[in-house]
Amino acid sequence: MKSPLRPTATCRPPLPKDFLWGTATSSYQIEGAVDEDGRGKSIWDIFSHTPGKIEDGSTGDRANEHYHRYKEDVALIKALGVKAYRFSIAWPRVFPEGFGQPNPEGLDFYDRLVDELLANGIEPYATLYHWDLPQALQDRVGGWSSSDTSKAFADYAAHVAARLTDRVKNVFTVNEVGRFVNFGYGWGIDAPGLKLPTAQLNQARHHVALAHGLAVQAIRAAGRVGTRVGPAENIAACVPAIPTPENIRAAEIATRELNAGFLGVVLEGKYTEGFLAYAGADAPKFTAEELKIIGAPNDFVGLNIYAPQYYVTASDRAPGFHVLPFPTSFPHMNSDWLRVGPEVIYWAPRLAAKIWNIENIYISENGTSSEDKISADGQVYDLDRIMFLRNYLSQMQRATAEGVPIRGYFLWSLMDNFEWIFGYGKRFGLYRVDFETQARVPKLSAAFYRDVVARNAIGG
Ligand code: NOJ
Repeated sequence: MKSPLRPTATCRPPLPKDFLWGTATSSYQIEGAVDEDGRGKSIWDIFSHTPGKIEDGSTGDRANEHYHRYKEDVALIKALGVKAYRFSIAWPRVFPEGFGQPNPEGLDFYDRLVDELLANGIEPYATLYHWDLPQALQDRVGGWSSSDTSKAFADYAAHVAARLTDRVKNVFTVNEVGRFVNFGYGWGIDAPGLKLPTAQLNQARHHVALAHGLAVQAIRAAGRVGTRVGPAENIAACVPAIPTPENIRAAEIATRELNAGFLGVVLEGKYTEGFLAYAGADAPKFTAEELKIIGAPNDFVGLNIYAPQYYVTASDRAPGFHVLPFPTSFPHMNSDWLRVGPEVIYWAPRLAAKIWNIENIYISENGTSSEDKISADGQVYDLDRIMFLRNYLSQMQRATAEGVPIRGYFLWSLMDNFEWIFGYGKRFGLYRVDFETQARVPKLSAAFYRDVVARNAIGG
């Protein structure tokens, strides 16, 4: 007798043919080797060594020892079948004091890494700033509180561009301004641990936007013709609670207003009236010349997408949207902050592309932490990560099918690493890392992702 059960379609339609699959990490989270080859201190070295700042009392001193194990790690990337890798360059390796004389050995490691990636058919996507500000800049000028840091960043960007853009064709400037400014300079949670008043916080964010704009200029001037550049931002992602035309419009207004302090000014060359009115006397001080620099065209926009930040509905009253409260029962992943809302990876790029006319979007980060225990058979069955990826990737595929210009996707993260204030307690990797032995073991999600990449479609 024939079984009444028939295999159902096991995968959703493919993604665009040239879709770029990748994975991502950042310097302080994986490199270790903090005192080697002339590296200066970063604000995260000082912060992580300050008692009470990191949940498990750990630091990035050793981390994944990637500085020495990079060849092994490139092989791990290759085994996934992905064609791109997003990593970050540690500014204090290149300019130990933040500015002045570059360290002659500062870029050697990245030179080697880039060569190894290319030799393995993996396209390098370099991020210039993934939070490891040289401590000397913090001490001397107050870090992002000063536009001197913006200028120093441009010099650093020029130096990197001159040396690497013969091989690195894509550069992200700054990573997650929406996090590191607020958490580091506003709430004292991240390095450098400051709690500045709102006006100074807005000014610091403006200096980061200026740094981005100056870096774009510097890369265009010092880099090879054709080098592509853009930010990687954790867009405040607004989702229509029910997708009626009115609510979709409300989500669009909310996305524009709630991202006005960085993405908005970068992509429009001005702060919205709503942002300036809301900030009032605390609004940042700026010149027309600065806005011109900040608003210079980008080649792409990177969006780091994790949790939906706000569900909204339409409102007749200004500003035109309601932000709905989250019930305490809303589900989240292993990281408490990571509320599960797969549709966010559909809406955020769709709305951003419409509001700012973006032609090229990369999902510069997406992923989740998971308990990631080793089972008795030695395997890591991270079914929650697979569930998360399946759902998010399906929504991403929904977006590309509708023509939203998402060109690539970088899964966070290649391997477990130093998860900032959570230390090594939160594991985001496709590979499990034993931080004692430094052994890397593929989790089940690595096989899941390899299958997605190989078929260019989402299974299950
Ligand atoms: C965003 C950050 O860019 C990255 O450094 C961090 O590890 C992930 N989110 C996960 O929290």
